[in-house]
Amino acid sequence: MKTTILITGASGFIGSHLVDEALQYDWEVYAGVRSTSSKAYLTDPHIHFIELDFSSPQKLEVQLDELITSMGGFDYVIHNAGITFATRKEDFYAVNAQYTKHLVQALHAKSLPRKKFVLISSLAVFGPGNATTFQPIQLNDIPAPISTYAKSKWQGEQMVRSLDSFPYLILNPTAVYGPRDRDFLGLVKMVKLGLEISIGRYRQMISLIYVKDLARAVMAAAQSNHLQRAFIVSDGHSYDKNRLAEMVKHFLHRRTWRITVPLFLFRMVVIAIDRIYALAGTQPFLNEEKVKEISSANWLCEGEEIWKELNITPQFNLKTGLGETLKWYQDQKWI
Ligand SMILES: NC(=O)c1ccc[n+]([C@@H]2O[C@H](COP(=O)([O-])OP(=O)(O)OC[C@H]3O[C@@H](n4cnc5c(N)ncnc54)[C@H](OP(=O)(O)O)[C@@H]3O)[C@@H](O)[C@H]2O)c1
Repeated sequence: MKTTILITGASGFIGSHLVDEALQYDWEVYAGVRSTSSKAYLTDPHIHFIELDFSSPQKLEVQLDELITSMGGFDYVIHNAGITFATRKEDFYAVNAQYTKHLVQALHAKSLPRKKFVLISSLAVFGPGNATTFQPIQLNDIPAPISTYAKSKWQGEQMVRSLDSFPYLILNPTAVYGPRDRDFLGLVKMVKLGLEISIGRYRQMISLIYVKDLARAVMAAAQSNHLQRAFIVSDGHSYDKNRLAEMVKHFLHRRTWRITVPLFLFRMVVIAIDRIYALAGTQPFLNEEKVKEISSANWLCEGEEIWKELNITPQFNLKTGLGETLKWYQDQKWI
């Protein structure tokens, strides 16, 4: 019988790359989607689609029973579905924490997955590193998430850890970039317009991971002997925040006009907008806690361990990953 893998959140940026990577194996690949999900990146005819209802553990158990009868259940489950933006704080906890709890409880009750459950968490759960020493964030640092998103991802991790003898592995990727990503697109579009807007004049260091390297690491980690532990995932390099815009400029052959907005001014405007949205019970994309997160000086992380333990190396650095990403944006006419 063929190995079976379920990838949740398969329609999204990272999820669709995970599906692409899994399709390289001679496995049966199940893409967890919603009825409303786009299948634009899930066109391979070998993909099996399933819609799981994460809102109820009971419904999930019924769905798993049906799947066990029809296809035998899963060897691997990669739980990647999650939200990185929400207009209501409670939605972060519902999707990133409660839905994760429902899924792991239902799987555990059915003795699934047979081999491994991989949770795609985030580096954000640790909170930013020391802004004076610029010591990279380490796996044994005490998590100190500062945004609701990061707190909800940390809760999701705790749900997974709380189950006895559950074959889990947690991955904490740093910021991910690559084809199909829209978060990074804003910066690229701005550079294309000849603008480089930076917030504050402080030094900011970040770690990054190219989405195809992340997908390779996820699949290798799933098949490794590592169990009931976590790994941080980055390409192992340190990047100055200004380096990104400089490289985009270089690739697009653009000269830019740099505008530096003082951090206090930026923060004041965001706080004002945040308060106005709060009156309506929602929150804007850029809110007070998001500013705290994106303006933190140190998002460097330890990036060697996972590659060493899995005996593989990242195939992309920022230059090659960015080159491929920008070419894809151009081919898709996103820029
Ligand atoms: N992007 C990064 O830099 C980064 C860094 C670290 C960790 N992560 C984590 O990686 C995962 C994927 O992120 P992404 O950047 O690929 O985001 P994305 O493109 O927005 O994809 C999110 C996926 O989750 C699905 N999803 C959202 N809410 C759901 C719900 N209520 N029920 C079922 N499925 C739901 C989405 O389905 P629809 O298509 O139907 O909306 C989509 O397939 C997340 O768990 C995120 O926390 C991302």
